Amino acid sequence: MKILVVGNGGREHTLAWKLANDSAKPEIFCTPGNAGTAALGTNLEFGATDLAGIKAWCLGNKPDLIVIGPEAPLCMGMADVLEAEGFRVFGPGQAAAELEGSKQFAKEIMKAAGVPTSAYETFTDPDAACAYVRGRGAPIVIKADGLAAGKGVTVAETVDQAEAAIRDALEGNAFGDAGSRVVIEDFLVGEEASILALIDGENVVMLASSQDHKRIFEKDEGPNTGGMGAYSPASIVTESVLKKVKEEVYDRTLTELKKRGITYKGVLYAGLMIDDGQPSVVEFNCRFGDPETQAVLARWDGDMLPAINGVIDGNLSEDMIQWKDEHSVCVVMVAGGYPGDYAKGDEIQNLDKANAIDDTVVFHAGTALDGDKVVTAGGRVLGITSLGKDLPDALSKAYIAVETISFKGAFYRNDIAHRELRRLENG
Ligand code: GLY
Repeated sequence: MKILVVGNGGREHTLAWKLANDSAKPEIFCTPGNAGTAALGTNLEFGATDLAGIKAWCLGNKPDLIVIGPEAPLCMGMADVLEAEGFRVFGPGQAAAELEGSKQFAKEIMKAAGVPTSAYETFTDPDAACAYVRGRGAPIVIKADGLAAGKGVTVAETVDQAEAAIRDALEGNAFGDAGSRVVIEDFLVGEEASILALIDGENVVMLASSQDHKRIFEKDEGPNTGGMGAYSPASIVTESVLKKVKEEVYDRTLTELKKRGITYKGVLYAGLMIDDGQPSVVEFNCRFGDPETQAVLARWDGDMLPAINGVIDGNLSEDMIQWKDEHSVCVVMVAGGYPGDYAKGDEIQNLDKANAIDDTVVFHAGTALDGDKVVTAGGRVLGITSLGKDLPDALSKAYIAVETISFKGAFYRNDIAHRELRRLENG
């Protein structure tokens, strides 16, 4: 059995690792992959959005399954094109992926469906947008409507900051076409958590909860990143919160999409703000989260292929997924300077030693092979992921592994899971 995983981040290495360990023993191909996926199978040369190259390879090589990791190929309709050629594809079609591809579309669906989320307005005119912000006050959130590689969101603490973000997007072309329209949302208070759910068009199975850490510095300070670490489970997601997320978020969203003739098949990530037991949606993503995937899939007990096939075949059920009764932590190591400018090509040392630590896997993100060396090739370089009998045990293993690895300029947060640890300390 041949599986092609599209993408080259930590999420894709984790998906490839989980699938490579399936009892069906598939042969794994990744495009373009990274140094981590190269160790699991074959990396191809096509970029994740090289639809023509990927389609031609699939037609020649006939993979049994294609798993599309990142949002960009999903939003450009890669799943539709490959499905039309007869391939089994995991990932939503273009119309459904608009839940991530357009913030305005996601808000419109949520509003029509009655999904709890913040109030919003959409603007293309900067003066009208600034007037709205002055009326609404700060803090307030400015989002580029389209895909902006994780950089399109400004949480403005002041009206001046909000106006600057609006003018950058609408006048300064900071995000190109993706920022030619902005969505301005009320700021939500509470604690964030992530839920990933598999959806087969009808059935929704939510995966284990997790919590990401988006800011670069400890105590959640500094600019936003793609994610500096995650842990699972997140106890802020209680049974009662989960029930609300299923009914008020997933069921309502799918009903509204169906009314519009849109079928959702794949994974739908709900970024949530939870305040006093009430979840509200901060964002939808049409793909697995990164680094949430590392923490969540580390806890997935047994094979993932039955659930992936369940999504594609429309017969997904809860019993296809079991969870290890353990806690997981992923600590992301980044290149110095990230999320700003950073160096590439620095050798990474002691990966084997770190991988040999009990219950620990080093997932690669921005890495590449340079001869027989593994070198840095992106901002987020590695996601060191450990399981433990409890959260402190998982943290202890993950940080021992992190301290084992070295590369020039390596940086990481020392406080992953700080909120959960505080909850544990406070009983
Ligand atoms: N961890 C945030 C994301 O995947 O979008």
